Amino acid sequence: FQPKLLQGKRVLVTAGPTYEAIDAVRGITNLSSGKMGYAVARAALEAGAEVTLISGPVCLEAPVAARLVNVVSARDMLAAVKKEISRIDIFVSVAAVADYRAINTNKQKTKKTESGITLEFIPNPDILEYVATLPQPPFCVGFAAETEDLERNAEAKRRKKKLPLLAANLAQDTIGSDESMLTLFDNDGKNNLPKAPKIEQARRLIKHIASLYEKQTEK
Ligand code: C5P
Repeated sequence: FQPKLLQGKRVLVTAGPTYEAIDAVRGITNLSSGKMGYAVARAALEAGAEVTLISGPVCLEAPVAARLVNVVSARDMLAAVKKEISRIDIFVSVAAVADYRAINTNKQKTKKTESGITLEFIPNPDILEYVATLPQPPFCVGFAAETEDLERNAEAKRRKKKLPLLAANLAQDTIGSDESMLTLFDNDGKNNLPKAPKIEQARRLIKHIASLYEKQTEK
């Protein structure tokens, strides 16, 4: 018997990469399979939550019990998040949002020439930071994939985005894999979740979220 840790709670999960078009057939994106975000959505459903999954382009089947919203770009994802956020108790931002998008995009396919080209990029909105700094934010959980200095980078991100909880992993160990190692950073310190299938990591994460969420609402 598994206790329903998030019974009746409304959970929003973002997952997968975003894709930022440069022209009709080209764009930039981030490496992300969506596996972890989809696992988090599944684990939240198992815990009794009502789940909305906002997903960038991935090749995965979404859990049928989740409400799925498909998006492409970071700005689409932000708009979808804004639509949902006022009714959400817990926001888990797993998506690998592209940090930049090209300016001067072309609706047609740009013709190739013999010379090189220069593209200019501008920063995308930070969706998680937007949500976490709302006047009455939901309980916000961030993810960070780093290639080095995991602890320092993760804590810096957690502070900058004002998050009660951030789950960090090494990009080279986790991207595309069915397994991951996670370290959870919160106000009480850090917790290592040893290597396990992503669904198992997601269940551990949901357990941790539920206990912090409960503590926060008791205050
Ligand atoms: O890209 P970065 O390492 O800063 O991502 C950390 C967290 O912020 C992740 O949870 C990610 O989903 C979120 N994020 C976001 N919007 C961005 C960039 C990151 O929501 N533009």
